[in-house]
Amino acid sequence: MAVKIITPVTLMKKVKDRMSKSEPIKEMEKTKKRTSRRSFFSLLWIGLGIVALMEFIGVVSAFLMPRKKRGNAGNLGSIIDAGSVDKFPKESVTAFIRGKFYLCRLEDGGFLAVSRKCTHLGCTVPWSEKEKKFVCPCHASAFDIRGAVISPPAPRALDVYHVYIENNMVKVDTGKRVKRGGFRTDQVVYPKKA
Ligand code: FES
Repeated sequence: MAVKIITPVTLMKKVKDRMSKSEPIKEMEKTKKRTSRRSFFSLLWIGLGIVALMEFIGVVSAFLMPRKKRGNAGNLGSIIDAGSVDKFPKESVTAFIRGKFYLCRLEDGGFLAVSRKCTHLGCTVPWSEKEKKFVCPCHASAFDIRGAVISPPAPRALDVYHVYIENNMVKVDTGKRVKRGGFRTDQVVYPKKA
C-alpha cells in the first residue's frame, strides 16, 4: 500500500481550499440573518401601522358618532334631571358643573337654563351671589339672572338649553345649545299650576 506523504506545501493548499469552500457558506448565513432581521422589522412596522390605523379609526368614529340623547345624568348631550321644582327657590341660580349650565329660577317662578360660556370669547362665567349677576373674569362682561347682557363687550345674551317639567321634576336637555340675541319671555318655562 502506497503511503501518501503530505508536504507542508500540500497541507497549506488543502487548508486554503477548505477556507475558500467555507466562505460562501458563511456569506449565505450572514445574508440569511440579515434577511430574517429585515423581515422582522418589516413585520414590526406593519404591526405598528395597523395599531395606529385602528386607533385613528376609533378616534374618528367616536367623533362622528351622534351623541346620546338620553343617558347618564350630568353628561353634556344628555337629559339632566335637575330635581324637583320645590328644590329651587325663586331668584336662585344653581350651577350644574358637568352639564355646563346654570339653572336660574326667576322671581316669577319660571325656569331658564343658561350656558356658562361667555358669548364674547367663551370664558366660563361665574354667578356672583353678592352682585346678583354673572360677571365674566376675562373682559368684565356682565349678564343678569336671565342671561341678558348688562355690560359689553359680550355681543349677545348667554345661550340657553331647553328646559321642561315632567311630574314636577325639572329636566334640562343639554343636547342643543340655543343662541339668542336677547332675553324673551317665551324662553322661560313655568311649572304647571296645581
Ligand atoms: S370672554 Fe367674557 S368678556 Fe371676554
